[in-house]
Amino acid sequence: MDIKQRIPERAAPFDDILAEMASYRTNDADWKGGKVWSLVYHAGDEFSEFLKRAHNLYFSENALNPMAFKSLRRMEAEVVRMTASMLHGDEQVAGTMTTGGTESILMAVKCYRERGKARGIKQPEMIAPESAHVAFEKAAHYFGVKLRKAPLDRNYKADVDEMRRMINRNTVMLVASAPQYPQGVIDPIEAIGALAQEKALPLHVDSCIGGFVLPWIERLGRPVPLWDFRVPGVTSISADVHKYGFSPKGASVVAYRSMEYLKHQFFISTDWSGGVYASATMPGTRPGGCISAAWAAMVGMGEEGYLRHTAEMLDAFDALRAGIPKIPGLVVVGQPEASLLAWSSEGHETGKPRLDVYAVAEQMAARGWTVDRQQYPASVHLTVMSNHRKAVDAYLEDLRASAAHVAAHPEENSQGNAAMYGLMAKVPVRAFVRQGVQKVMESLYAPNPKFEPDPEDSHLLPERFRRYEPHVIRAIDTVFDLKTRITRR
Ligand SMILES: Cc1ncc(COP(=O)(O)O)c(C=O)c1O
Repeated sequence: MDIKQRIPERAAPFDDILAEMASYRTNDADWKGGKVWSLVYHAGDEFSEFLKRAHNLYFSENALNPMAFKSLRRMEAEVVRMTASMLHGDEQVAGTMTTGGTESILMAVKCYRERGKARGIKQPEMIAPESAHVAFEKAAHYFGVKLRKAPLDRNYKADVDEMRRMINRNTVMLVASAPQYPQGVIDPIEAIGALAQEKALPLHVDSCIGGFVLPWIERLGRPVPLWDFRVPGVTSISADVHKYGFSPKGASVVAYRSMEYLKHQFFISTDWSGGVYASATMPGTRPGGCISAAWAAMVGMGEEGYLRHTAEMLDAFDALRAGIPKIPGLVVVGQPEASLLAWSSEGHETGKPRLDVYAVAEQMAARGWTVDRQQYPASVHLTVMSNHRKAVDAYLEDLRASAAHVAAHPEENSQGNAAMYGLMAKVPVRAFVRQGVQKVMESLYAPNPKFEPDPEDSHLLPERFRRYEPHVIRAIDTVFDLKTRITRR
């Protein structure tokens, strides 16, 4: 299909335009059927229609100027307040809405960098567990804060002793996750909070994915270790309404224990010829619909709705957690405590996996499932939602068949995407992988990108990396096993 090159001279009929747009969906992932394990959080068609109306009600308004649209300022304040009380914050907790988890994390890092600067720190550093979301690396990249990654313990939790060892006089913040994305594990936040208090450092808890699900898991009577504002050392939390809060995309909350922290997040310019300018978050213009729809999602879901969806999610989660280890050769990685999990091969801990995970992933993809491949260890990630309850039996059946296929056809491991992902994880010089991915980004954002799948383009790595002889790969394997063993003591 040709890419449009210019604005058409004549406007097309609205119905034709909408039909054309709908036709672009042909190759999109099928999220409604439960075959996608991230990206879309769906609470049913009726709820979606309600959210669209709520979004449309403030379709034109702009929260850039909260004085002009007090309606939006009110709803933003209420979203933050409702979130803060869900996270057991008191009336001092202050925060803002952002466009998503990444922006909430960017804002927290920017805030603590400024706070550090006010205390004379010129070369700021943050300490985050290796499993912390990549948005912290992005924040480090954007804001010139050095990210120091603390190793994990055997259970994929932050190693608090390692974090303690890394603190120095440039440290401006500590980070923990509830839960972290790769394995769904909650860091030992009470211990990290105690460390933060002892060293008088702020602690940001990234609960972008857990914020709107852990409180309900706890309310349903499952043990959840303390992780929110009840932990005295926690100074801020990010929680995404657009994940388990079921709002449409573009809504997260970053909440601080008090204005003493939040005040460092603001940007103020006094000298621009366009006037004195102040903003609380990254964007200038802020779409009103994201705020009104997030407000509507929370009020329209209510505690009862969140509890119901969480209970349904837990049914699916429990079935996966119990069913995956029953498949010969597969295991669940670590001990996931919330709504996320990753499966891998038996033996991955010792560097001698029984099955090639990426080959099993290929088999799952061929059966129509969207697979989120991870590395260190090679695994596949599942973000489990209420919407997956109906899909779990089919998933487990296909996973059993896929694992059996790979066990019976080991020769396929070194072919196609399975080989490519395996190799990407193993190339020891990460700059090579970066180069390959850079090329992919350039082709995705090229002036005339291709949208039809092209089998020739299916590998991310330049040809020369695919030429590694098997013995070189074995050597790389050894280096990597060593590295994983060192970092996961
Ligand atoms: C733990 C965690 N933090 C941050 C993010 C980033 O959120 P977003 O994709 O909304 O920017 C995610 C996304 O999955 C996450 O799981």
